[in-house]
Formats: sequence, structure tokens, C-alpha cells
Amino acid sequence: MSQRTDTGNQETELPDQTVLVVDDDKSVLTGLRMTLEGDYNVVAAENGAQALSLLHEKEPDLILLDIGLPDTSGMELIEQLKSADPEIVVIMITAVEDIRVVVKALKLGAYDYLVKPIDTQDLKVTLQNALETRLLKDKIRRIQKPNIERYRFDLIGRSPQVKAMVRTAQKVTNSIETPILILGETGTGKGVLARTIHFSFSELPGPFVAVNCSAITHDLFESELFGYERGAFTGAKGEGRIGRFEEAAGGTIFLDEIGNMSLADQSKLLGVVDDRMFHRVGGNKPYHVSARIIAATNVDLEKSVEEGMFRRDLFFRLNVVRIVVPPLRERLADIMPLTEYFIGHYNQKYSKNFTTVSLEARKALQEYSWPGNVRELRNLLERIILLEKGSTILPRHLAFLKPPQEICAPSELDVSEATLGYEDAVKRLMQEALGRTNGNVLEAARLLGMPAHKMRYRIKKYDLKVG
Ligand SMILES: Nc1ncnc2c1ncn2[C@@H]1O[C@H](COP(=O)(O)OP(=O)(O)OP(=O)(O)O)[C@@H](O)[C@H]1O
Ligand SMILES: [Mg+2]
Repeated sequence: MSQRTDTGNQETELPDQTVLVVDDDKSVLTGLRMTLEGDYNVVAAENGAQALSLLHEKEPDLILLDIGLPDTSGMELIEQLKSADPEIVVIMITAVEDIRVVVKALKLGAYDYLVKPIDTQDLKVTLQNALETRLLKDKIRRIQKPNIERYRFDLIGRSPQVKAMVRTAQKVTNSIETPILILGETGTGKGVLARTIHFSFSELPGPFVAVNCSAITHDLFESELFGYERGAFTGAKGEGRIGRFEEAAGGTIFLDEIGNMSLADQSKLLGVVDDRMFHRVGGNKPYHVSARIIAATNVDLEKSVEEGMFRRDLFFRLNVVRIVVPPLRERLADIMPLTEYFIGHYNQKYSKNFTTVSLEARKALQEYSWPGNVRELRNLLERIILLEKGSTILPRHLAFLKPPQEICAPSELDVSEATLGYEDAVKRLMQEALGRTNGNVLEAARLLGMPAHKMRYRIKKYDLKVG
């Protein structure tokens, strides 16, 4: 039971919230104070300078801001307030509903707007909605905290290619509005790079929200990404829901597997990437995207564009800062640092004590073509460390790796052949894992770091023997 007795709303868990009202008209300030006091702590500022100092002093949850202030333009003030506290919810008050002004303010990160003369009911509802959204975002951030710890890993690699990649990524970390496109074969570390950009290179206060675009069905695409309003469609949960773009506020939205989206979903995404605005399903209020967008795919997007499978305009929009993660076979200098890193990691995980890699085994690792790239190397080492004994990794542990010439001609790397080689490697790995686990699909999937549903799907596809 709540200790609070004076507010009469014990069933809500809302803490006492503070609203900062900024208006140069004293009578408006008094009016707003009278309307809001009782429900909120109200502090008032008559100009921009006062507003900024009260922001630091009182740490309000929300700011009601008149955009025509004497000492500084309201727009400038939104920017200053947002950069002082990116989480702050700003609702602007405007004398005339000038759509250009409103859109500009929303783009700068204002949450909503009210037109004078302010309707009391409208004011209360707008404030309540805004604060609920903020609470939700805080809650999501708290839930995501443990994941943040989990992702505090390093981007391993000392090859010139990795260094160049990191340099490019570091250069763009402060321009949040510019999307980043990460390209590269499967398993090269695109996801790792995206997380590194967010957690290590940027200092964004918001969360890292990963969206696997190819896993969302078309029906749910919009509501998943943009959220929906109360009762937007049959089956929609009562209160409505915020989408992934809102969840990522002040952080990064990672649009993974972007090359596999349907054309219809691509056009929905285009609108958002274009003007950094979106609507919740069933709503007509525009919301500002305050997250950095990182997109990734292992699909050759240029080819997809030529084939009409990927929208050219969306490609151009995303292809501003492009980082290509090279395949592992093109950066041999990374193989041993990665190997050592994974050995350390899995030694700890499985209480083993592998310390060295024999010379021949090193040679085999360097010569292999790694169609599954770093993921394949990681899975191989996990398998060895879990299943084998001793302290040295030997060639026999790597026996199933095919020499590169068997997978493709060394002179030219044909994509279809590389794919074939990869599938073959996957099949072998799966068969071996199933053998070792006596046909236990879940255990084998875990061993390979493969999602169980993928494992089941591939067992069927490759017609593998279980048990
Ligand atoms: N530079 C790296 N340092 C450490 N680990 C890495 C690195 N690159 C890749 N990995 C490992 O390889 C795994 C696969 O990487 P990741 O998931 O980022 O690949 P991807 O390029 O996104 O692949 P896909 O296209 O299949 O989604 C990661 O889980 C991580 O363990
Ligand atoms: Mg990935």
C-alpha cells in the first residue's frame, strides 16, 4: 500500500512528478500552475535562461514550453534542453497552429504540442500520455540493463581492414541523424560492430534495440516498429503499445537483415528514414525518431536494387555511411587473435584449460576459407573446447575443415560455390553435433550456437539423421 495519503490516487504507481512550465506571459503561468498543482509539482520559468537552470536544479519529468519566448527562440531552447537532458519530454505551447513550426519542433525532439487557448482536459490528457510513455521507456531501459552488461564484449581484430572499419565507425558516431549501413557476408560480425558502435563508440543515453526485419511478418511490421494506439485494430491490447522506434529513443535502432524485407515494408520504412517521423498504427500524431539508425544485411543490396527486390530510394537513404565488414578469409591477421579470444572465453565457460594452438593447426586455420566467417570459427572452437581434452588444439580437431580449393577455385570466389561450401560445412557440423549428443536436437543446437527452430528446419532440409 502506498504511503502517500494526500493525492488520493494510491492505486497508480506514479511517483511525484515535476512539470516545468516555461512561458513569458505571467498570467499563463499562473493559469497553468493552478490547473496542474495537485497532480504535479509545478515549477515555472519566464525565459530560456531560467528554464535551463531549473532543468538542472529541479530535474523535471516534463517541460511545457511556449515557443515564443523573449530571450531565445523556442526552437533553440528545445535543442538546448534536449542536449542537456535527452530524456526530457517537451510539450510545446503555440499561439497559432502553424504546421511548419510544429513539424520543426517535433523534429527537434518535442513530444507533442498544445494550441492556445489551452483546453484543460486536453492539457491533462496530453501530459498523462507523455509521462506514461516516459515511464514505459524507463521501464524498458531497466529491463534491458542486464543485456547491456552481456554485450560488453570487444570487437576483436588487428587487421588493417578492421582498423579501417573502426576508424570509419568512430568518425560518424556523433552524427546521430546519419544512418549507418553495415554490409558483409554472414557471420562476419555486423551485429558485433553495430553493438560496438552503440556501446563503445557512442555515448547515447538510450538503449540498443535490435530488430530482425526478416523475422517480422508483414501484418505486424507497422505495429511492431511504430506501436499502436488504444483499440487500433482487432486484437490490439487495450492500452496500445509503443513500437521499437519509440523504445529506442535516445539510443540506437538496429535494423538487422534489412535485405530480406518485403517491398511493402520497405516503403513503410522509407518514410521514417526519410523525414525521421512516424505515426503509431491507428493514430495520426507524428512522432520524432530520436534514435540513430543502423541497418545491416548480408544481401548484396546493389544487386537486389537492380533486380527490383530492394527499393532504390531506400537504398540511397541508408547508404550514406557504408561500412563493409570483410570476410574472414580476407583478413587472415584476425584469425589468431579471434582464436585466442574464443579459447579464453570457452575455457572459462566449460572450465577447460586449452592454452596453445599447434603450428599445423594454425596453418589449417589460416588456409581454410571460412564460408561461415567468424561465427564458424567461434562455433568450431566451442565445439573443440567442450568436447576435447588437453591443452593444445591439434590438426585432428580441425579434421573436418575442407581445404579452400575443395570449396572453390582459389582464383575466383563464386558466390554460389561459396554458398554451397557453407551449406556443406553446416551440414557436417550439424551431423557431428547430433552424433555427439545422441540425437538430442536441443543440445546439438546449443552446441552449435544455432537457434533450435533453425536446427529443426535444417534437419528437415538436409534430411539429416537424428539419433
Ligand atoms: N570482431 C569480432 N570480435 C569478436 N567476436 C566476433 C567478431 N566478429 C564476429 N564475432 C562473433 O561471431 C558471431 C557472429 O557475428 P555477428 O552475429 O555479428 O555476424 P553477422 O555479420 O551479423 O552475421 P549474419 O549476417 O549471419 O547476421 C558473433 O556472435 C560473435 O561471437
Ligand atoms: Mg547479424
